Amino acid sequence: MAEPLLELRGVNKSFGVAHVLHDVDFAVYPGQVTALVGDNGAGKSTLVKIIAGIYGRDTGDYYFGGKQVEVHGPRDVAALGVEVVYQDLALCDNLDIVQNMFLGREEMKGVGLDEVSMESRARETLSSLSVRTVKSVRQSVASLSGGQRQTVAIAKAVLWNSKVVLLDEPTAALGVAQTRQVLDLVRRLADRGLGVVLISHNMGDVFEVADRITALYLGRVAADVPSKDVTHGQVVELITAGRSGHLGIAENPATATV
Ligand SMILES: Nc1ncnc2c1ncn2[C@@H]1O[C@H](COP(=O)(O)OP(=O)(O)OP(=O)(O)O)[C@@H](O)[C@H]1O
Ligand SMILES: [Mg+2]
Repeated sequence: MAEPLLELRGVNKSFGVAHVLHDVDFAVYPGQVTALVGDNGAGKSTLVKIIAGIYGRDTGDYYFGGKQVEVHGPRDVAALGVEVVYQDLALCDNLDIVQNMFLGREEMKGVGLDEVSMESRARETLSSLSVRTVKSVRQSVASLSGGQRQTVAIAKAVLWNSKVVLLDEPTAALGVAQTRQVLDLVRRLADRGLGVVLISHNMGDVFEVADRITALYLGRVAADVPSKDVTHGQVVELITAGRSGHLGIAENPATATV
């Protein structure tokens, strides 16, 4: 298998007395969708925020492109080409699609903004991803459906030539058709060679698009496996019990640490 594009090794994270992540190793491969699964409170969003540079880590090393890197905040992470798409915080409602996609990275022409260039780049990016349901790139984001919002947030990551995109429950609030669109887009990103991380509680979605599955159980990695090597039932057991047959954590850490 190819080298991981992004890798974290030995991550521990506590919030006060709550030890939320225990010796977590996590890898993202180019051209692959890695599903990060786990029950509510397992530590998925915390891990993503550590990758995003929003939270610091108590221990653990961060590798990008095979080299260890220093990451001190979201800017360092963005500079590596890592983008995170959050369910709710991704976009500004009062701005249109173009303004959102170029927020903080606007193109200038003389003393003003180069609206023509930004508009055409936004349109090209959406069409390169075969997004056809957005009528106008000058539409305000407040007027978009949940699925369209996700689409724009993902297109923004593509526009900025990201190498790794992490999506924290992108389909949680979506209907069937919108989920379809977002999953297609997730697959297309990986097919372009990006490393994609999908957090989802929906096993159907996970098995449809993921190449690998990393299961967290009470803040520990219970398994990191190719999705073709496990069944839905096994993944559900890994999520709910931390083990399934030969896979998973040998002893229940909840009782082991008491
Ligand atoms: N800022 C914080 N301060 C204190 N505890 C936190 C903080 N953020 C998360 N936690 C705790 O860390 C644990 C993991 O939370 P996290 O949000 O990472 O879970 P998750 O796997 O994303 O769950 P969900 O599926 O519900 O989104 C939880 O017990 C949570 O209460
Ligand atoms: Mg979460």
